Amino acid sequence: MKSILLLNGPNLNMLGIREPGVYGAVTLAQIEQNVKTKAAQLGLQLEAFQSNHEGELIDRIHAAYGKHDGILFNPGAFTHYSYAIRDAIAAVNLPVVEVHLSNIHKREPFREVSVIAPVAIGQICGLGAYGYELGLLALHQHFHEKAR
Ligand code: DQA
Repeated sequence: MKSILLLNGPNLNMLGIREPGVYGAVTLAQIEQNVKTKAAQLGLQLEAFQSNHEGELIDRIHAAYGKHDGILFNPGAFTHYSYAIRDAIAAVNLPVVEVHLSNIHKREPFREVSVIAPVAIGQICGLGAYGYELGLLALHQHFHEKAR
């Protein structure tokens, strides 16, 4: 059975409280539960982890090597400037789908750039919590295509 790591970065533990006009009313616990249910339906194993600390996220990416088959990742603000997280993804060479609740391309200019995108298989943004489900489907499809 393929295994996915659902990784969420800084401030995403505040979903539900944090800027609901931008990020919606859904909590991270609800997102994690929903993605876990959908993963089970697809025959995928899923482990969820959130951290506000760059080093902890990097440690989890390293630990995913040999343990998980792909990563569904909302890196939060680290998206825009963490070369260390980008390098960690390149190091483990696992398929990563980058997810953002908001449309990072129609907000402040600093959000336009993702240093993660070049090491991700794709990016989903602007579709709210549904983006996580789409990202999961994309990883599922990716595994199938690789198996062919
Ligand atoms: C975010 C977008 C980032 O720019 C922001 O720093 C976040 C959340 C999103 O899900 O829309 O923390 O990744």
